[in-house]
Amino acid sequence: MPVENMTVKSEYRESMKVWLNGKIMSYKDAKVPILLHPVQYGSGVFEGIRAYQKGKGTAIFRLDDHVQRFIRSAHIYSMDLGYTEKEIRNAIIDVVRRNGLSSCYIRPFAFINSDKIGLSTFGKPSSLFIAAVPFGSYFGDNKEKGIKCKISSWRRINSGILPVEAKASGNYINSIIASTEAKMSGFDEAIMISYNGYIAEGPGENIFLVKDSRLITPDTGSDILLGITRDSVIKIAEEIGLIVEQRQVHKEEVYTADEAFFTGTAAEITPIVNVDGIKVGSGSTGPVTKLISERFYKVVHGDDSVFSSWLTVVKLL
Ligand SMILES: Cc1ncc(COP(=O)(O)O)c(C=O)c1O
Repeated sequence: MPVENMTVKSEYRESMKVWLNGKIMSYKDAKVPILLHPVQYGSGVFEGIRAYQKGKGTAIFRLDDHVQRFIRSAHIYSMDLGYTEKEIRNAIIDVVRRNGLSSCYIRPFAFINSDKIGLSTFGKPSSLFIAAVPFGSYFGDNKEKGIKCKISSWRRINSGILPVEAKASGNYINSIIASTEAKMSGFDEAIMISYNGYIAEGPGENIFLVKDSRLITPDTGSDILLGITRDSVIKIAEEIGLIVEQRQVHKEEVYTADEAFFTGTAAEITPIVNVDGIKVGSGSTGPVTKLISERFYKVVHGDDSVFSSWLTVVKLL
């Protein structure tokens, strides 16, 4: 997803090591031609993965699930990654380790490596890089108190137009226009409606509502990216004993929900307290959101034995 708060400090940028096509190198040596296909047309697939501090080491959250989604995204676009799942997984671990990062945002990115003019990617080679940067809260200080959203005037792309299940760069121009519109109108983020008129997702987040202590989230038919945080929240909620409904969600249900929150690797769990100027519930972070968030942060930091298999622990050098 687009990580706009990913302000990489210049000292880190100077020393940062990235992985490019099988080699670890300095960030400043990893260059691409300006005429490159993905620079012109967005022909890349990617992942966003977080790693959290766990004791003296670093724990990558749901690494295998992210690598598998990355491979599926590439497959949809007939992009030959040239590396196995295990090789990509190990390369990600290596990047975190070599940069000595105790917590970070990791960006594996596969792209068409051709500067020939012409749209079809058939027969064009691909390249793969992995970078990792220190990264805090996606919504900054607003995350704790909750954010204000705008229902976008832009519809979410649907899979008759582009494969929504692929995390492809080009999809994000749809996210960018919605997010920018929301920010220019004084909101923190957009909520996008699917082509068939139901709530879909945020530009880089899945959405959950809470109604009478049940969780409600748009289903796979609602033109959403199947978020790994979404799946984690569903599993955590079920473990706690909450009922989770995955279904089509009418726009007005957002206004009448008791609570609402976004989920995503960058957004983590971010309460939504106002939509289109209408208060959601009490207008502050609700008890179910708090309950789920507390458990989620325990899980990602390795303080929860039930979901410990979701963590890949990296021993720093
Ligand atoms: C469009 C979109 N929806 C949902 C999500 C949340 O997915 P995940 O929890 O796997 O990060 C993201 C972020 O990756 C996204 O870009």
